[in-house]
Amino acid sequence: MIPPGKTIGIVGGGQLGRMLALTARRLGYRIAVLDPELACPAAPVADVALTAPFDDSKALRRLAEASDVVTYEFENIPVESLRQIASIRPVFPDPEVLHLCQHREREREFLKKYNFPSPRFEIVASANELASALTRFPGKTRLKSSAFGYDGKGQLPLEPSANPQQAWSQINVPRAVLEEHVPFVRELSVLIARQATGLSVPFPPFENRHQEGVLERTIFPARTSATTATAALSLASQIADQLKLVGLLGVELFELADGKLLVNELAPRVHNSGHLTAETCHTSQFEQQIRAVCGLPLGLVTPLCPAVMFNLLGDLWVQGEPDWSPLFALPGTVLHLYGKSVARPGRKMGHLTIRAATTEEAIRLGNLALNPIRTKAGLPALTA
Ligand SMILES: Nc1ncnc2c1ncn2[C@@H]1O[C@H](COP(=O)(O)OP(=O)(O)O)[C@@H](O)[C@H]1O
Ligand SMILES: [Mg+2]
Repeated sequence: MIPPGKTIGIVGGGQLGRMLALTARRLGYRIAVLDPELACPAAPVADVALTAPFDDSKALRRLAEASDVVTYEFENIPVESLRQIASIRPVFPDPEVLHLCQHREREREFLKKYNFPSPRFEIVASANELASALTRFPGKTRLKSSAFGYDGKGQLPLEPSANPQQAWSQINVPRAVLEEHVPFVRELSVLIARQATGLSVPFPPFENRHQEGVLERTIFPARTSATTATAALSLASQIADQLKLVGLLGVELFELADGKLLVNELAPRVHNSGHLTAETCHTSQFEQQIRAVCGLPLGLVTPLCPAVMFNLLGDLWVQGEPDWSPLFALPGTVLHLYGKSVARPGRKMGHLTIRAATTEEAIRLGNLALNPIRTKAGLPALTA
């Protein structure tokens, strides 16, 4: 058990690291962060901020030696780096869990091997292999880079008539996963924390809407049936058990029209869809992650109220810093800004959580809050 007062090391200093660090600090922990960027969001809230590439072995040793336990907030870390840290201090989730989840081929093969329902796929490593694989998929498909994908990057939706040579040169990666396009009615995610003892606690499912591959909003609780919600929790807990997870895992799911679920992705870390747990559950995903990696009892995740979370992307900053002041006059809104000094289109700059008596009311208030800011930035108004 790593009690408050000890130091938690975090590999990665983005917004997830910042929110983890802020929560850990409230609990009395010290924080050490490693990130290649000097001005990363977590650095100003860490006790020790190391600036070095993720494969700098001297910096990795310093992070390990400064910490009592180490976790990570980012998936594209060389697994060798985590293995090096793990030879000095405990790392949770285990580096081998990241090794599996950070690579789409390994992730899909794992899901298939243990019969977790997931989209049909084939692995391709050349234009010819893609051409041959495409003949076995009658409908639309999606070509996804095997490595380094995030926020919809490294993906190509393909029509049945797609030219394989052209698609292969466009995706421009050594290996990829070709999978069926899934006509889902809803995207869900389940975040589950698991202790070394095997006890696991899932948050109720979140409903997610993506735009161009990037999470646009999360609705809580998910507007799905009780049966589907129960099935989602059970899938997440079986996956966490199979991985022998210690820590937090995000399980992204597609819900089909008949209520059937397919597992899309696994993320062994705090997850964008769980940000609203800070305002809507007894224990936030950040605290739950800290509890799990420090060997503390897991917290209650009972929902407190419905809410919606909107990601605030750099596109809102085209005319400079938006005027946030009207938001503070709206009931139930909680603004989070990550302290990033440069806004680029698509960059996650912050998020807004709106709590209300119903999800519909939260969405209505969210539109009311965001539309003046969107209009000023030349973006279309949100309607639903
Ligand atoms: N096979 C698919 N069929 C339909 N939509 C998909 C499919 N795969 C991904 N998507 C859409 O793209 C989003 C991002 O894809 P995902 O595989 O989760 O990659 P990442 O989040 O790592 O960029 C998903 O949340 C979903 O909205
Ligand atoms: Mg995803």
